[in-house]
Amino acid sequence: MEKRIAICPGSFDPITLGHLDIIRRSAALFDEVVVLVSVNYEKHTTFTAAERVDMARRATEGLDNVRVDSDNGLLAEYAKNTGARWLVKGLRAMSDFEYEFQMALTNKKLYPELETLFFTTDIRYMYLSSSMVRQVAAFGGDISEFVCPQLKQEIAARLRRAPD
Ligand code: PNS
Repeated sequence: MEKRIAICPGSFDPITLGHLDIIRRSAALFDEVVVLVSVNYEKHTTFTAAERVDMARRATEGLDNVRVDSDNGLLAEYAKNTGARWLVKGLRAMSDFEYEFQMALTNKKLYPELETLFFTTDIRYMYLSSSMVRQVAAFGGDISEFVCPQLKQEIAARLRRAPD
């Protein structure tokens, strides 16, 4: 039988507990989940692609059917080449919807067999975003409820800014 492969794509700058919740829930539904560190030209990233991949790998250790990869091309092409027919994204609020809907339709146009699934965010992570993690960490705030324990020190140390 055909292996059911899903992709959880994103910038993951850095990966948060909200992302991990969506990844775990995807892993329970599909044979294989690829966490894909992709390029979003609308965003300048703080962490390099190699760092984001490394953090995503460490955060997903122990999830046996999850692997992490990176790509700097079109997501639809990557999905086609990988044999993945599902994209899974988390939706936090209505404000996410318009942009996500546009991306889903564009990806469908580029690869008609590709289905985008939206998972409702867990209420605990409703407010959470990578940019909020970066902001709190830059001011030396506690990020332990936002990122997984094995990444906390590294992210905090890397983002902490010295006061002017
Ligand atoms: O976490 P983000 O930044 O919201 O994720 C957006 C991302 C990286 C998934 C999106 O920008 C993307 O798919 N980039 C790959 C290039 C591509 O296919 N762009 C067209 C998507 S319609």
